[in-house]
Amino acid sequence: MKALVYNGPCDVQIKNVPDATIEKPTDVLVRITTTNICGSDLHMYEGRTSMETGRILGHENMGEVIAVGKAVDRVKVGDMVCLPFNIGCGFCESCERGLTGFCLTCNPGSAGAAYGFAGMGPYSGGQAELLRVPYGDFNCLVLPKDAQEKENDYVMLSDIFPTGYHATELAQMKPGDSVAIYGAGPVGLMAAMSAFLKGASRVFVVDPNKDRLALAEKMGAIGINDIEGDGAAQIKELTDGQGADCGCECVGYQCCDKHGKEVPNLTMNNLVEAVKPTGGIGVVGVFLPEDPGAKDELAKEGKLAFDYGKLWFKGQRIGNGQANVKAYNRSLAKLIHAGRAKPSQIISHELSLDEAPHAYKKFDERADGWTKVILKPGQ
Ligand SMILES: NC(=O)c1ccc[n+]([C@@H]2O[C@H](COP(=O)([O-])OP(=O)(O)OC[C@H]3O[C@@H](n4cnc5c(N)ncnc54)[C@H](O)[C@@H]3O)[C@@H](O)[C@H]2O)c1
Ligand SMILES: [Zn+2]
Ligand SMILES: [Zn+2]
Repeated sequence: MKALVYNGPCDVQIKNVPDATIEKPTDVLVRITTTNICGSDLHMYEGRTSMETGRILGHENMGEVIAVGKAVDRVKVGDMVCLPFNIGCGFCESCERGLTGFCLTCNPGSAGAAYGFAGMGPYSGGQAELLRVPYGDFNCLVLPKDAQEKENDYVMLSDIFPTGYHATELAQMKPGDSVAIYGAGPVGLMAAMSAFLKGASRVFVVDPNKDRLALAEKMGAIGINDIEGDGAAQIKELTDGQGADCGCECVGYQCCDKHGKEVPNLTMNNLVEAVKPTGGIGVVGVFLPEDPGAKDELAKEGKLAFDYGKLWFKGQRIGNGQANVKAYNRSLAKLIHAGRAKPSQIISHELSLDEAPHAYKKFDERADGWTKVILKPGQ
């Protein structure tokens, strides 16, 4: 089969590799019809993770079931399915509690497994023609009859729609709240969309990227283009000096100042400033236990100079981590089915798998107009 393989920093290629197959009786084999490029792929693409060369990338996958293992009895050949980026077993202590982003079975010695992801187990990604899905009965979200018609919406259930929603949950956002979101990439935009679905009164989105801010504004958000201290000052000014009721971090450890220089503590400290006393902060942007490629010494060890005193004094709370996609994907699918949510609105490019290396380059540059890339391996 054809697949997108990681060769080393800023080097991905389409290669012919052995077909994915059923390896265990609980597996499902999927022919990928849509697979997305994610901001998480960019951390790996840039060589800023422990990703091994030769691995197939891609964790935002959807497609048609073409084979099922002997122990699979719910999912059927022909079903259109969307796969959560996290791989869960369904029976460990975390999965039982709905915390499938922290499955204790699928990546032994750690908590959390995913397709084509650094530090999250040996599983191949889905930027390929075929994907092996472990524990298929548990992990496949079987889609309704409009699966193909709304494919570009449903594929967003694999990661960014539930992840954006998770950011608002971690922030303990309630109807009527104002929300400060740092980052207008795909995840920040999905957090803004989720905040509106949940009844936010006002949503502020902070990003230096004008075309992405324009998308946020189209959703009804207030775009704020100053990513350094002034962004927080503007949010405070617009909220009677108090700050937003809650906030979401949707950028991660590679956040930058206005000159494009990485300053890893910038978004976290700005959120402490931009959110009101006692407000919640949900952090879905990725931060890593170590980052050898970082420029400053603290960041190399995965540490931040964090305004903890200010956070404590303001009585704020923080929630962190990978989204437990399965906790939300079924309900969010109903919103798509009913026409109440249209996450495909942020897609800028729909390309073939062969065009993926070029797309990685442009998306990594955050080039004008490259907001979200989806790939169609069958075309
Ligand atoms: N927790 C999860 O489950 C989960 C799932 C998916 C993605 N992620 C992570 O979410 C983060 C965002 O993903 P994405 O796909 O939207 O990526 P992206 O890189 O496309 O978007 C990041 C955005 O942040 C902006 N930005 C940079 N510095 C900033 C600053 N100081 N202040 C405000 N904005 C700033 C950039 O201009 C860009 O638009 C990544 O770290 C990704 O790995 C986490
Ligand atoms: Zn993703
Ligand atoms: Zn589990």
